[in-house]
Amino acid sequence: MALTYRDLLSIDDLAEADMQGIFSRAAAHFDRNREASKRIGALSGRTVVNLFFEPSTRTLLSFDIAAKRLDADAATLPLDQSSLKKGESFDDTIHTVGAMRPDIVVIRHGEHEALQRAAGLLEPSVVNAGSGARHHPTQALLDAFTLTRRWGSLEGKRILICGDIVRSRVAGSNIALLRKLGAEVRLAGPAAFLPKKTTASTFNDFGAALEGADAVMMLRIQHERALGGADAPALEDYVRDWRLDAARLGKAKPDALVLHPGPMNRGVEITGEIADGERSLIREQVESGVAVRMAVMEWALGIEI
Ligand code: CP
Repeated sequence: MALTYRDLLSIDDLAEADMQGIFSRAAAHFDRNREASKRIGALSGRTVVNLFFEPSTRTLLSFDIAAKRLDADAATLPLDQSSLKKGESFDDTIHTVGAMRPDIVVIRHGEHEALQRAAGLLEPSVVNAGSGARHHPTQALLDAFTLTRRWGSLEGKRILICGDIVRSRVAGSNIALLRKLGAEVRLAGPAAFLPKKTTASTFNDFGAALEGADAVMMLRIQHERALGGADAPALEDYVRDWRLDAARLGKAKPDALVLHPGPMNRGVEITGEIADGERSLIREQVESGVAVRMAVMEWALGIEI
């Protein structure tokens, strides 16, 4: 029997029907994940391998838990103890993983081209767990799913993404997905953190950007991807002008929701009061992450239930 292996490298790999199918499956998983018995046999006998070439807490753990809740065998290669350290090449590492006959290989890498290369070398599904500075499709899916649970539809909703947009893979995938789902996307931040070319509207003034916002997604500064040059703001200036606090959130709609993909730098881009406040969806985003990644793995293997 021919097996189905679909790759998810970017939001562009998903048609409208794929997204709706993933959200529908994720909704069932979300509810079941709150029950005592969380496991179903959808991926029974299948194997998922996690290859994370960059650090992760949420994404790695949630893919691991998602695979196990679907009854798959899950294995994570600890890359800092792998034979890459003995000089083995990326391609040979990927071929070695492929020879063990996994069904899904989940990869995080600093270069999107590495994901594309792995997908070309591997027969099993490759699922992107964050690549380069533009792609984190399962994060965007879980963010949109979290908002969809509140609103039903994102059509016409004004969603502001604020912070280090230009280096954020979360922003890259969210701009693409939220617009596909009919939302109005605004981007705000200091000039050094805004993309030169984008289809979204951009703002240098946080207060103006917040006006009429239905949701605000705050992003951390991506120090590991280097700051944006001489015009990047000093940290104290950034905190003064761009930290989301209660006064600033008051400029958005009265019931505006707050998101953050994590990891958060409390006190820098967001105050603890807002992060832990009643309008914050930050922990629900993490919860959604397990459900959405379960649905993505079913989609990747063409499993219809
Ligand atoms: N949001 C996100 O990708 O978090 P991790 O880096 O902890 O996986």
